[in-house]
Amino acid sequence: MSNEKVVTVTVNGSTVKLATPAHRTLLEALRHEGFVEIKCGCEKGDCGACAVLLDGEPVDSCLTLAWHADGREVTTIKGIGQPGNADPLQKAFIETGAAQCGYCTPGMIIAARSLLKDNPDPSLADVKRGLSGNLCRCTGYTRIFEAVQLAARELRGEGEAA
Ligand code: FES
Ligand code: FES
Repeated sequence: MSNEKVVTVTVNGSTVKLATPAHRTLLEALRHEGFVEIKCGCEKGDCGACAVLLDGEPVDSCLTLAWHADGREVTTIKGIGQPGNADPLQKAFIETGAAQCGYCTPGMIIAARSLLKDNPDPSLADVKRGLSGNLCRCTGYTRIFEAVQLAARELRGEGEAA
């Protein structure tokens, strides 16, 4: 007997039905459905590349079963902002050069979004702590931390992200 069921998830405001067995992760199910903006890195909760917001809270989608998302809302990087309607964090990552290969960037921005929601004026230590679950192989992190603080100033009305 198949252990598949259809779960209904709202992804970036649109209803998506995922026919998925019990063991499939949200990462696998959503990428299979075409949401390839969710990046697949370590698949064991170490790198943060796969982060999405689930009902507004950040989760590693590689550690979340698709069935667990049934009836819930997922936000991917495309739900944060799009070209022409970019989020201040996305603009700040571009302005500071914080996205190099870009593979970590969706997860970084998801984590940063969550941090700034809870703490609109983070210190450098707060930013480092907030992004401590996300790995980057390219930037050395300095520009990423700058980007988050630039976006925080912009969101507080104190700065100018591009
Ligand atoms: S792919 Fe999920 S934490 Fe690395
Ligand atoms: S920009 Fe390449 S892994 Fe972070």
